[in-house]
Amino acid sequence: MENILNEEVIPMPRIGDKAPEFKAKTTQGDINFPADYQGKWVILFSHPADFTPVCTSEFMTFATLEEKFAKANTQLIGLSIDGLYSHIAWLRTIKDKIEFKGMKNVDVKFPLIEDITMNVAKKYGMIMPGESSTQAVRAVFFIDPKGTIRAIIYYPLSLGRNFDELYRVIVALQTADEFAVATPADWKPGDDVIISPAGSCGVAKERMDGNVEGLDCKDWFFCTKKLDKDMVLDKVLKKEKEPVLA
Ligand code: BEZ
Repeated sequence: MENILNEEVIPMPRIGDKAPEFKAKTTQGDINFPADYQGKWVILFSHPADFTPVCTSEFMTFATLEEKFAKANTQLIGLSIDGLYSHIAWLRTIKDKIEFKGMKNVDVKFPLIEDITMNVAKKYGMIMPGESSTQAVRAVFFIDPKGTIRAIIYYPLSLGRNFDELYRVIVALQTADEFAVATPADWKPGDDVIISPAGSCGVAKERMDGNVEGLDCKDWFFCTKKLDKDMVLDKVLKKEKEPVLA
């Protein structure tokens, strides 16, 4: 597709779309995306540039949380419009020299994609010319084990991401899939979840008459139920059980 200036226009991927495919060089070797990650959740995120302060704070935070995301079957993959040697030098500098909020000697072990050609950034709509035409914004794509995009968050260059929220999104998406529920505002494991709206007048009446055990209905279209925190953690995070002492 081309615009009136005959420039190539690549439609931005949307929630529900299959994640656009690409092959790329990364700091952990070549990848074939999303095929290499079938069966895993992936957070594919872009940052504006190597050797910049906000990005450095984000990489240190992500690397420190990598294990926590891995327990939720989630692979982190970063990208910027920089070359591989710049990535390697930046990650070495982070490990050797940078201390931030108590984090130091931080080893970034997840892949960081080299995208000097902007091939991947363009496919994923990570370039927003009003913000910068040479640097990617801070995009975050949440991709499920079948390679479908399930959530997208964008931040501008100046704003570092909230990692509690990124983790909450992963847990909430997996909870919705595992238990066929929706999650209300500010939901976290242990909070009540929302069940699907009544699909008929009969079901609406039953719910409002209080005939469905375990439901708390604010109105016929808005019913919640309890979902035990341990059930969420067991299913979603595959939490290892504490060993039972004899
Ligand atoms: C940063 O990561 O610090 C940054 C990158 C691009 C523009 C502004 C800030």
